[in-house]
Amino acid sequence: MAKKRIGLLTAGGDCPGLNAAIRGVAYASYNLFDAEFIGINDGFTGLIEGDYTRMDREDFSGILTLGGTILGTSRTPYRNMRVIEQDGKDKVAAMKKHYKEMKLDCLITLGGNGTHKTANLLAEEGLNVIGLPKTIDNDIFGTDVTFGFHSAVDIATDVVDRIHTTANSHGRIMVIEIMGNKAGWLTLYAGLGGGADVILLPEIPYDINKVIDTVENRATSSGKKRNFSILCVAEGAMTKEESLLKKKQRAQKRSEEAYHSVSYRIADEIQSKTGLETRVVIPGHYQRGGSPSPYDRVLATQFGAYAAQLIKDGNYGNAVAMKGNQVIHNPLSEVAGKTKFVPTDGDMVTTARSMGIGFGD
Ligand code: F6P
Repeated sequence: MAKKRIGLLTAGGDCPGLNAAIRGVAYASYNLFDAEFIGINDGFTGLIEGDYTRMDREDFSGILTLGGTILGTSRTPYRNMRVIEQDGKDKVAAMKKHYKEMKLDCLITLGGNGTHKTANLLAEEGLNVIGLPKTIDNDIFGTDVTFGFHSAVDIATDVVDRIHTTANSHGRIMVIEIMGNKAGWLTLYAGLGGGADVILLPEIPYDINKVIDTVENRATSSGKKRNFSILCVAEGAMTKEESLLKKKQRAQKRSEEAYHSVSYRIADEIQSKTGLETRVVIPGHYQRGGSPSPYDRVLATQFGAYAAQLIKDGNYGNAVAMKGNQVIHNPLSEVAGKTKFVPTDGDMVTTARSMGIGFGD
């Protein structure tokens, strides 16, 4: 079999498991066919700028457990890659030029929704592309799970556990803001896994009075032992009124309120209306840092090895995914540009409700 030259890039927000997936692609490829790798630096920025380096077998050694990405990453630098006027640069032409310059047989993109979108655009332009699904948000369409998600669930749940003991000691209301602007998967899992009393998700707009009812009930009707409450709030949580606004209008309204984030507003409303002592905790990027969990190491390795097989078969234009415990692939064109939201009447939400967790609706 002729040598295949493969380009690798990681794009969007980093997460644990990216290096494990890179290693998975590389090792399985070396074992399946005559493979050669080029690492593209800092996501699509590197592909546009022509910033890349040849990688050898030893570059993939010792990275299974390493957090972040050895290739560096960047947010997709342009909202629409096809818009030239934005900066006078034809980004699509630049990416195609560098793909050719590197003499690639295939480009592997590891990323989230934005990455899949650009990967699909490049596939439409005739490049051989395969996408691997990473994100702590778990919101990629067509896959049950993304790598990075369960590591973040472990971290966020640990935060909830630790906050639980201090909340209990002080009898306080603790508002924990969890990452996830569009989709609330991480908040839902950490909230359920950590035994939260209230979970607020972007998918289920809340009424602050309902949230207050829940915490007041716990503070007054359950005796001293349960007078504290834990709220897990997705960073993209919104009120019922806000949900009727367009994204821009919502952002405008929020900026006029001058709260650092939605959690601070919720905490302020609870404390001022109930007198209950309330604190905010924002673990932020801590949720994306450090080593991948064993689950994510395995998942990322499975995805990487599967991608190697797709390369061997010349099966391009696809996104690797997990469906019902089976690694599969979906055409990029079918998944790009779509988001997997938490189904508001799905099993997870139903289970949480049956535990007495309030969603503020
Ligand atoms: O997509 C992953 C994510 O961590 C989201 O949960 C969060 O809203 C966003 O990235 C934060 O982006 P940045 O790292 O650019 O601040």
